[in-house]
Amino acid sequence: MEIDVASGGATEVEAQFLAFGLPEPATELPRAAAELDGALGGLLARLAQSGDLRGEAGGTHTLHPQGAVRAERVVSAGLGKTDRIDADAFRTAAAGVARSAARIGGSVAWLLDPSLPLALDEQARAVVDGLVLGGYDPGRWKTRDRKTKPLERIVLVGADDAAAAAARRAGTVAEWTNRARDLANRPPNDLTPERLAERANEVAAGSPTVTTEALGREQIEELGMGSFAAVARGSHNPPRLIVMRYEPSQPARSDVVLGLVGKAITFDTGGISLKPANGMDEMKGDMCGGAAVVEAIGAMAELGVPIRAVGVVASTENMPGGAAYKPGDILTAANGKTIEITNTDAEGRLVLADALWYAREQGATHVADLATLTGAIVVATGDFHAGVFANDSAWEKLIVESGEAVGDHIWAWPMGPRYRRYVDSVYADMKNSSTLREAGPILAAEFLREFAGEGPWAHLDIAGTAFLSRSRGDYLWQVGGTGYGVRLLVELATRLAAG
Ligand code: BES
Ligand code: MN
Ligand code: ZN
Repeated sequence: MEIDVASGGATEVEAQFLAFGLPEPATELPRAAAELDGALGGLLARLAQSGDLRGEAGGTHTLHPQGAVRAERVVSAGLGKTDRIDADAFRTAAAGVARSAARIGGSVAWLLDPSLPLALDEQARAVVDGLVLGGYDPGRWKTRDRKTKPLERIVLVGADDAAAAAARRAGTVAEWTNRARDLANRPPNDLTPERLAERANEVAAGSPTVTTEALGREQIEELGMGSFAAVARGSHNPPRLIVMRYEPSQPARSDVVLGLVGKAITFDTGGISLKPANGMDEMKGDMCGGAAVVEAIGAMAELGVPIRAVGVVASTENMPGGAAYKPGDILTAANGKTIEITNTDAEGRLVLADALWYAREQGATHVADLATLTGAIVVATGDFHAGVFANDSAWEKLIVESGEAVGDHIWAWPMGPRYRRYVDSVYADMKNSSTLREAGPILAAEFLREFAGEGPWAHLDIAGTAFLSRSRGDYLWQVGGTGYGVRLLVELATRLAAG
């Protein structure tokens, strides 16, 4: 996406669409719209009075200015109620514009407005997020009836240098976020663990500071990863442990390596503890944690974020079959701990157990794992907040603040020994699931803590936020992959680098 700053004002800028944010109620036009309305002979004010322009969140209204300004169309973009205007309101307003612009394509110019209650650089970032993410089309596999044309250029009107820089950065990150959505939406007959490893190779090929390797079934077994290997046993498509290394030329902190660990089950049938048929198709999205790690590393490299990072993505299918692992099996993980299997559908924590260990082996000092881990977190905080569970409160705080700053909302959950006892096993060091319905996401996190090694670690359960069964009704209006985590991880890396 080309992102430019207009040299002239609203009437001069050339674009297919000239958009401005409009709060609800629209009885009084905000400053940028009022100025534009001078050139339009008061048309906007009249339409606001008549109720044609309302400013409801995400709603748009398109006018044809017939030569009064250089842009071909003028679009009002609803920001919703004035006292609730925040960055998400701007994202949603811009996504509304992206949706109407998709029929025409081309360029959108946006009037930033210092009279609105959000700092100019944050307006710029959010508008770019909304246009790029809101313009995403999940219907890539349709052979007919595709009506979307790509948005090619965003022009910000009224941006200072800080706003322009923030917008360019946001555009880069949003495009990598859409790449994570592409991975999530790819069908599981195409996106196998091998293909995900190919995507990691592609990212590395395009970034001189990124290298990657992918370990296969034998190497996984040789490393003693009995937990990961067991999950992979039921599948004909071989597993991959994808390792990505990002080495910026001048790391800001020589003592820090960010470890990013991702769950990438390219299809989760539940295994022998088979899932019900309804909605099982959505389990193609069980690789979203891994996708976020791969694409976030790509984004970090393009932006040159000055922190070393290692990505470890555990990718396999979870299938039933003659060779599949079974309830009752006892596995030995790479760190030597033993696990009794009580449910083969609790496979995510098993692949993460060995991937977390490997990230520490590779020198990670600060670890974050991302996983679509539990249905229970979907029930608890739905499609808006992910959950974070950590062994270090400063690390947890940095993650929550990073997520909130960029629109990947996240909520901190409790942990502790009073939860850990529920994954005690009669036979082994722990079991991989409890029959209790209570506190499912926390029990999973307590299990993972056993493999997180020394140093700050956090687990991000993104089951509710990474892959949508229905529209969120905001700028993430599409079903399927949201790219959750890419924005958060880039921000986290940036803040970690800054010390
Ligand atoms: N991939 C699922 C979790 C999931 C559920 C993600 C819904 C997205 C939407 C995970 O592997 C799983 O099956 N978890 C089980 C754990 C249970 C057996 C302890 C679950 O949540 O039911
Ligand atoms: Mn499962
Ligand atoms: Zn799963």
